[in-house]
Amino acid sequence: METKKPVILSGITPSNKLMIGHYIGAIRNWVALQNEYECFFMVADLHAITVRQNPAELRRHTLDIAAGYIACGIDPEKCVLFIQSHVPEHTQLTWALTCFTGMGEASKMTQYKDKSQKNSESNNVGIFAYPILMAADILVYQADLVPVGDDQKQHLELTRNLAERFNFHYSPTFTVPEPFIPPTGARIMSLQDPMKKMSKSDENEKATLFLDDSDDAIRSKIKRAVTDSGTDIRFDEKNRPGLSNLMTLYHTATGRTFAEIEKEFIGLGYGEFKEAVGEAMVGLMRPIRERFIELRSDPTMLHDLLAKGAFISHITPCTNILC
Ligand code: TYM
Repeated sequence: METKKPVILSGITPSNKLMIGHYIGAIRNWVALQNEYECFFMVADLHAITVRQNPAELRRHTLDIAAGYIACGIDPEKCVLFIQSHVPEHTQLTWALTCFTGMGEASKMTQYKDKSQKNSESNNVGIFAYPILMAADILVYQADLVPVGDDQKQHLELTRNLAERFNFHYSPTFTVPEPFIPPTGARIMSLQDPMKKMSKSDENEKATLFLDDSDDAIRSKIKRAVTDSGTDIRFDEKNRPGLSNLMTLYHTATGRTFAEIEKEFIGLGYGEFKEAVGEAMVGLMRPIRERFIELRSDPTMLHDLLAKGAFISHITPCTNILC
């Protein structure tokens, strides 16, 4: 008899296009794990509407992200790809979990505090409740593992707490999921302000490497990346965050360790290093961009695939939880 594989669930919010932080912090780990797990990867459109969206753009970004998953190496034959809002069980379970979440617990979430301050005029209850929706996304599939970047750690802790609380008050119902946070690249920093996380919504275009950036844009963004005033190439996240961030990009693109990179650039300066990083990133990102453009030219294929994914996701969840 075939043994059941453990389950992975993860997703990305389509509030803009995919960028290199998503790839390094999340998608490349999904690709590495897709053979050993039963995988559910969604486009989290319900999360995107916590901030006011232009509907046409939201639809475009939703398909962009689904195509991006495949372009990055997710195999739709092995993994279930779907749009979150197409599977109503996510919001159904959210309600039950909302009733198990303390007000203080939800108010403590760092992302809630940041987002509500930034958008104080368009602040809404969704921004407050969104980590509970995220918990439901995970628990409804009985996920064992959730591969994410470092910024989602707190949401994963909340998810685990809610699962344990529910299991204690009712009966053992939910799998308590483990986060998978990669040892390197869990927090790729802005190219313009290395103290800040790289973000898809940064107002400064130069701060973010988007997965569909042209070769020239990639080279130019790396060349203009803010670094410190040192001269040698040495990994030191605390004192030289800009340089260390570029070393992490180079490490991802080439597979070389930080020690190997330091050795490679002995006697060379930031100029030569940045040029090498630019070329390595072009080498990594060009095939992804080319495959993305190809996939994106066939929206019918993407819609069909996502409809099939939504159907499988719809029949998988565990929602009969209260009686
Ligand atoms: P989102 O869309 O902000 O980010 C998607 C994934 O990319 C990772 N990430 C990064 N990793 C490294 N460096 C960065 N600069 C960087 N920026 C983003 C994030 O950690 C994340 O893994 N709420 C989630 C989406 C979501 C979800 C879920 C994830 C909804 N439901 C259930 C996992 C499980 C979000 O907005 O991620």
